[in-house]
Amino acid sequence: MAEYWEINRANWDQRAAVHATSTTYNLQRLIVDPTALSEVVSHDAVHLGDLSGRDVCHLQCHIGTDTVSLARLGARSITGLDVSPRSIEVARQLASDCQIADATFVEAEVYDAVAALGAQRFDLVYSGVGAINWIPSISRWAGVIAQLLRPGGRVYLRDAHPMLYTIDHRLKDGTLVVEFPYFETVEPFVDDEPGTYTDGDHSSITANLTHEWNHGLAEIVQALIDNGFAITRLAEHAEAEWQALDSMVDIGDGQFALPERRDRLPMMFTVEATRLGL
Ligand SMILES: C[S@@+](CC[C@H](N)C(=O)[O-])C[C@H]1O[C@@H](n2cnc3c(N)ncnc32)[C@H](O)[C@@H]1O
Repeated sequence: MAEYWEINRANWDQRAAVHATSTTYNLQRLIVDPTALSEVVSHDAVHLGDLSGRDVCHLQCHIGTDTVSLARLGARSITGLDVSPRSIEVARQLASDCQIADATFVEAEVYDAVAALGAQRFDLVYSGVGAINWIPSISRWAGVIAQLLRPGGRVYLRDAHPMLYTIDHRLKDGTLVVEFPYFETVEPFVDDEPGTYTDGDHSSITANLTHEWNHGLAEIVQALIDNGFAITRLAEHAEAEWQALDSMVDIGDGQFALPERRDRLPMMFTVEATRLGL
């Protein structure tokens, strides 16, 4: 039987081809303007600060738009890792077209990141916006990040809030109904919804089967604490980077939110933590 990441890889390889030509990811904007940042990294830039002199690892880098943007925040070196070879191919080409000097892209599963990246250690591990839902155990994920970072190094994760993933996204009437697990489960959420979240022709996406997991907010935070991190920032956001629910409206700047009473549900969260130890 195929591993969960092999099932998901087939889906992401097909999505990568569609995403690469979508206006949602808009690779051309990053290529023609050497100061341009992805919308995702634009939102994080104020917290990430100047990355000069920092070695940065971007886990689940997909087609590299955020990776290139992290380089543009000044990173000395940038390493993107993703399980999808088609995503890595697009990311490599994008970094080259954007003339990013020290960019490396590695095809690997997150749990294999330490072996795949060899002896290299980083000052910052960045991930998010649809990342940790593809990982079965958040505790094992945090252990990998601890090994990738130098002591004093930082992890920055901004991802979908686990409460958002509990909501029944199939309902079209704007009601918020808790349907799916909030806490991490052993068994995955198995989905076979066609298509993807960008514009473009989705007809080439036929590998629709995916396996995903939710992780409660405390499970994420505790996993970091248990793996030797000190939490330095935890924030919950009423906006998301994509239209996760049909009722959500575009509020500009690449952000989506509920049409009214946005204080009902957190859409995303950010956690920043520093690796303790010598
Ligand atoms: C939504 S994208 C990443 C988010 C990024 N913010 C973006 O939009 O460019 C999810 C990525 O995770 C990758 N992925 C999924 N499971 C993975 C795993 N187990 N190890 C490494 N990468 C994985 C997929 O190949 C895909 O490129």
